[in-house]
Amino acid sequence: MRRLRVTWLFVVLVVSGPAIWLVLGERGGRERIVPLASLDLLKVEQGLGYAQPNRTIQGRPFSIAGETYASGLGTHAPSVVRVALDGRGSRFTAKVGVDDEAKRPGSVVFRIIGDERERYNSGTVRAGEPARPVDVDLRGIRRLLLLVEPGVDGQDGDHADWVDALFRVKGERPRTVDRPTEEAILLTPPSSPQPCINGARIFGVGPGSPLLYTIAATGDRPMTFGVTNLPAGLQLDSQTGQITGSLSKVGTNRMTLVAENELGRAERELRIVVGVSLALTPPMGWNSWNCWGCAVDQEKILETAQAFVDSGLIEHGWSYINIDDCWTVNPSAADGVVRDRQGMLQANDKFPDMLRLTDAIHSLGLKAGIYTSPGPTTCQGFTGSYQHEMQDAARIARWGFDYLKYDWCGYSAIVGDPDREALIKPYALMKSCLDQVERDIVYSLCQYGMGEVWEWGRDVGGHCWRTTGDIVDTWESVSSIGFSQDGYSLFGGPGHWNDPDMLVVGQVGWGSDLHATRLTPNEQYSHMSLWCLLCAPLLIGCDVTKLDAFTHSLLTNDEVLEVNQDPLGDQARRIARAGYQEVWAKAMEDGSKAVGLFNRSEFPERITVQWKDLGIHGPHRVRDLWRQQDLGEFEDHFEDKVPRHGVLLVRMNGIGTGD
Ligand code: GLA
Repeated sequence: MRRLRVTWLFVVLVVSGPAIWLVLGERGGRERIVPLASLDLLKVEQGLGYAQPNRTIQGRPFSIAGETYASGLGTHAPSVVRVALDGRGSRFTAKVGVDDEAKRPGSVVFRIIGDERERYNSGTVRAGEPARPVDVDLRGIRRLLLLVEPGVDGQDGDHADWVDALFRVKGERPRTVDRPTEEAILLTPPSSPQPCINGARIFGVGPGSPLLYTIAATGDRPMTFGVTNLPAGLQLDSQTGQITGSLSKVGTNRMTLVAENELGRAERELRIVVGVSLALTPPMGWNSWNCWGCAVDQEKILETAQAFVDSGLIEHGWSYINIDDCWTVNPSAADGVVRDRQGMLQANDKFPDMLRLTDAIHSLGLKAGIYTSPGPTTCQGFTGSYQHEMQDAARIARWGFDYLKYDWCGYSAIVGDPDREALIKPYALMKSCLDQVERDIVYSLCQYGMGEVWEWGRDVGGHCWRTTGDIVDTWESVSSIGFSQDGYSLFGGPGHWNDPDMLVVGQVGWGSDLHATRLTPNEQYSHMSLWCLLCAPLLIGCDVTKLDAFTHSLLTNDEVLEVNQDPLGDQARRIARAGYQEVWAKAMEDGSKAVGLFNRSEFPERITVQWKDLGIHGPHRVRDLWRQQDLGEFEDHFEDKVPRHGVLLVRMNGIGTGD
């Protein structure tokens, strides 16, 4: 009987085999080949341009070490392609390399992550090297990430190609997906109604220069301000907290600031240092470029200044309101007189009254900044200062500006391929002009890090200098700039800061399409934390008249801002790195350490910081600065889970060890 049943089953299988396979095939899907280039490439995130199907990012046919390829995906590092496979894939094959089209020879690393585990790592691939084969087993994988990371030489020339890139899958086609969404959790606790004094604890001023320092304090209004030991030559407005006047004697003046309301009183020491340098803490303020681009005008600047007061940003130490490019006359548009008969620089129609503008900014207790170029024109083709440097410095000072961003751009028409001496020359020239005006002007060098500017920016009189090209509001841009600042910490300090470019939080858009930053909430926490640790100038780049609650909380955490404004001015270094985890730390004036535990990976990770890497020993109290909460005492290490692209920013105080 049993034997009969088995035979019967055998007959059924043989006869109906093709039909059964067809059914299975329809259920599980027959294996098919899907080119990577046929997926929706708009979801690809990358450092420059847009991902192209069957073309390089410059729209050319692929060419790797002289070999041409017809199909694939052209991208630029850093880049991420997120693919949903949902377990239907069996193999991914491709060849990878740096395209021959790049003018500068780039180097990149191609990586493939399947469900949080690395499945392929090309190692460093350089321009001119033949394409490397990729063959990844996809069985069981739900989410696949195709990553291209810049090599150690930065992003230049990183035109990265995935050629002949094919998925073998069953059933539905793979699809590209957006990054995971995150809830925007407000970590900063609301400010207390009692008075609390924030902002810089040390302030530099030139001998005899007009001084303006506004006491930054949170707490219910009305509030009255006082200063004990206010040096002769200075006055305080007890209603606004503005300290004005001038000091002629070189040296340090210590005083105690007082803020009082009906709920209480706060005190804090302020040091005003005469004659050493300006910007003894990194400048904190706003710049028009990242939101308004060339659409900037006088009204927008005035509204921004008012919004600094109305939104309370001023109570946390934010003070500069800086106009970027496009305020002078564009000579080729012939829409105004570039300079008057005496050669004095003219503002264009959008800035009808510069004096009124700076007066209005100052009367709010804020400072005003402006922009020009050592070239005949600026980056956007507006008039620059070439051969009018002294006149322009004088004009800017007379108008009452307190900050000058001096942007190389148009000067490349004067020297094409500059050596270090040629790079220094126009910056030294403008500094010698600024030294002749009777006003303190913070001098910001902007030339994107050429010629290792951090090595000479200070000698040339710069209070800060850009170390990189322009930032944009993507994680690729922020992380590749921020995490590449390690080598510069030696060169930064009070009065001379490395500048990794402005903040890309809130509504940004460079004048055309104002949109919410494309950074996720955790990426924004990482951005702010890293910029604070790096002692970067903090220049908000968004429309502050439309500050949402999340951005506001991001910009008003006094314990976080204190990391940036600490008088010691120690720029954080990377003290540990493992895979996607990085730990950055800096010393604070009170002997504590500020430490950022960063997770650059696509998934949450546990990160540990060891005391030995921090150079400390013995028990330490650890405080979470974003949440403003003590986390407890730890003996020799601290560890916690950090979200994707997120950070844990802590401060560590030794207990009885003097650390
Ligand atoms: C350069 C600078 C930017 C901005 C623009 C203005 O790109 O790096 O920060 O000032 O010019 O044109």
